[in-house]
Amino acid sequence: MNDKAETIIEVKNAKKIYRMGSERICAVNDVSFTIQKGEFCCLYGASGSGKSTLLNLMAGIEKLTSGQIIIKGKSIKRMNEKNLAKFRQNNLGFVFQSYNLLNSMTALENVELPLVFKHMKSKLRKRMAKDMLVKVGLGSRIKHKPKEMSGGQQQRVGIARAFVGNPEIVFADEPTGNLDSKTSKEVMDLIQEMARKNHQTIVMVTHDRRLAEYADKIIHIFDGKVEKIEIKKEGPGEMPFEENAADHLAKEEPVTAILQEQPVTG
Ligand SMILES: Nc1ncnc2c1ncn2[C@@H]1O[C@H](COP(=O)(O)OP(=O)(O)O)[C@@H](O)[C@H]1O
Ligand SMILES: [Mg+2]
Repeated sequence: MNDKAETIIEVKNAKKIYRMGSERICAVNDVSFTIQKGEFCCLYGASGSGKSTLLNLMAGIEKLTSGQIIIKGKSIKRMNEKNLAKFRQNNLGFVFQSYNLLNSMTALENVELPLVFKHMKSKLRKRMAKDMLVKVGLGSRIKHKPKEMSGGQQQRVGIARAFVGNPEIVFADEPTGNLDSKTSKEVMDLIQEMARKNHQTIVMVTHDRRLAEYADKIIHIFDGKVEKIEIKKEGPGEMPFEENAADHLAKEEPVTAILQEQPVTG
């Protein structure tokens, strides 16, 4: 990061306790850190360590038990549902492990959705959605429905949808969790490239160290706590996957799209 680094997300003593009958599960336990504008940040840790809960708190999907999360100078717990929804629409994009595309809609319609919520005129949003699909390499698939695409292609649609409104921050929870390693690399490269071009901030959850290598900052989560924060001095790293270019021609595994409201936690 340069000297002019500007904090875009501040997490202060964040805590999330789930109550299951008489049992209390402290999924996020007094976590504090900051994320700078334009940074690629990764929440890295084992399954069950609290990464998704933390991401969902940051995205305003889950409510804090205590502590604060400040995004662009605004405390998200102070916002009512309506303002929070608007804040999300204007500032945040999301990429999910299971893509969360609407199966009855074409790629174009899926990518248009965030713009529909912003009340953008049909002609403009169709053009923006199409341009974005071209950027992610799916110019020839705009009329395809999720089931007519491979897992990697579906996630490209997911990425196009996340970035189409040019949000300042994109949250991604295990975005390559359902993909093979070749496709994972392509998808990660795409997320990185899109974010770099527009100086967007990425917050990505992963349990895979190879994927964490994409980040400028790796926040290690263990048992609901920050174990350590690793800052990469040389900036974003390259992907240590071993496949060569010829492997890109290898078959892609078909992945069934799972439609659901919330991201699957890994
Ligand atoms: N909605 C929920 N209700 C109760 N417990 C939950 C809920 N979501 C997550 N947990 C628990 O919180 C802990 C952290 O989960 P999660 O954030 O999904 O971890 P990760 O994403 O690192 O795998 C786990 O013990 C999980 O079982
Ligand atoms: Mg998870």
